[in-house]
Amino acid sequence: MTTLMGIMLPMISRAHTHQLASDGIPNIWKLFNLRESPHFQDPLGRADPFCYPTELFVGREAEVRALLTGIASAASSRQAVAGSAGVGKTTLVQQVKAEALRAGYWSTDALVPIYPGDTTDAPIVRILGAMYETVLAMLGPRLEYEEAGREAKQLVRTFRVASGGLTLGHPVVGTVGGTRGEQVVTPPGVGLLEGPRLIRRLLTLAEIEGARGVLLHLDNLEHLTDADERAAAQTLRGLRDPLFLQSGLHTIAVGTTDAVHGVLMSTPQMRSVWATPMILAPLTAAQLDALLAARYHYLVHDESRPVVPPIAPDAVAILYTLYQGDLRGTLRALDEGAQLLLGYGAAGGTAPLTYPELASVLGQRYRTELTTSLDERRLGKFEALTATGGKAWTQAELGGIWQLSQSRVSRLARDLVARGYLVVLPRVTGEPGRYALSGTSRIIFQGADRPRVQQAF
Ligand SMILES: Nc1ncnc2c1ncn2[C@@H]1O[C@H](COP(=O)(O)OP(=O)(O)OP(=O)(O)O)[C@@H](O)[C@H]1O
Ligand SMILES: [Mg+2]
Repeated sequence: MTTLMGIMLPMISRAHTHQLASDGIPNIWKLFNLRESPHFQDPLGRADPFCYPTELFVGREAEVRALLTGIASAASSRQAVAGSAGVGKTTLVQQVKAEALRAGYWSTDALVPIYPGDTTDAPIVRILGAMYETVLAMLGPRLEYEEAGREAKQLVRTFRVASGGLTLGHPVVGTVGGTRGEQVVTPPGVGLLEGPRLIRRLLTLAEIEGARGVLLHLDNLEHLTDADERAAAQTLRGLRDPLFLQSGLHTIAVGTTDAVHGVLMSTPQMRSVWATPMILAPLTAAQLDALLAARYHYLVHDESRPVVPPIAPDAVAILYTLYQGDLRGTLRALDEGAQLLLGYGAAGGTAPLTYPELASVLGQRYRTELTTSLDERRLGKFEALTATGGKAWTQAELGGIWQLSQSRVSRLARDLVARGYLVVLPRVTGEPGRYALSGTSRIIFQGADRPRVQQAF
């Protein structure tokens, strides 16, 4: 046993809580002096499925500082982070939570989910659950001796037991790793009646125990607006006085730029209590290099030797340009390209993969995915769009190309966004919204046309 522990401990210590599945069994990443793929797409700092430490965070110092200042300068705060898909919104808030913890605030890695069709009752119980779990994580079973702790536990449990932990709608806020949804079916109003009082008492308890405040993280507001923007705005407005304004509570809500504006800035009552959303710009290409360098350093196999980048840096840069700042999409393309081709490149498989190599294999893969995921009609419409050679289209322009009514255009465009073939560009004030091809579409329709591709194989 001791010997076993002697072998295992050094291996897991460097990986923090992240247990490497491949430890002990050789894998191809070793050729590049890495223990495993550096192209994971999970936000940093989440405990499940793995914990990739927030030390891998790069850049965004000003944004972290601004959000922390917003928290520190009032007894209660409400801030919003907006930005396009995959730009790094969730990870930024994870970083802020890690820093806030160091500064004496209480928070956990939990993201609070909100589902379509939620009245204000259900989210308040979920937020109470998040509060209870935060205080429980900080105080441990001692919370059982506190009346507020027992009552909160009882109420959240009742709601969860009533639903059997089932999620009926699809998760709306906090889908990243946050699948612990529960649909609330207990008598309406109970949450709203009891929730705010219990949240107040938990906040007081946290304060007595030395917390400077509690930080809540509402994620992926855009899923809420997909269902019904007006209803979503109403739900959150209903939480304004009983919840968000409570002293000691600091909230950061996250979503795409349109969703954050649509849900949080839609009425004067909301605008007066939520700070102007912070719009996240994409990381620069140099920051993406730093992001990968940090991951190589963390995942190095033999520290006495340098890591060989599995994908050539200029290939990373080209993909990042195609994905227009979408880190998740870029990392996914790198991951999938490497899965298919790692070990099959030059120099006996040990040379970094080049862009032409990646473009041909990814172009083929994404084209196959496209043709299997879209029916003939939608595929035809999509191809008609790419054939125009345009870069971005308003809904009216799409209507002209597709010869469809505006409502059908809107439905088809949303479907193509949901499937990752179109992206919604952030709206410029006073101008209509625009759609553009996603990185995946660009790889399908443009990447393979690059002249170097033909020479590569
Ligand atoms: N500043 C950063 N430093 C290091 N890694 C980052 C940073 N920002 C994002 N990442 C990495 O990029 C990937 C995407 O980030 P994240 O999930 O935070 O984006 P998002 O904007 O929340 O995406 P989505 O729109 O899908 O919710 C993750 O793997 C994350 O670890
Ligand atoms: Mg996110």
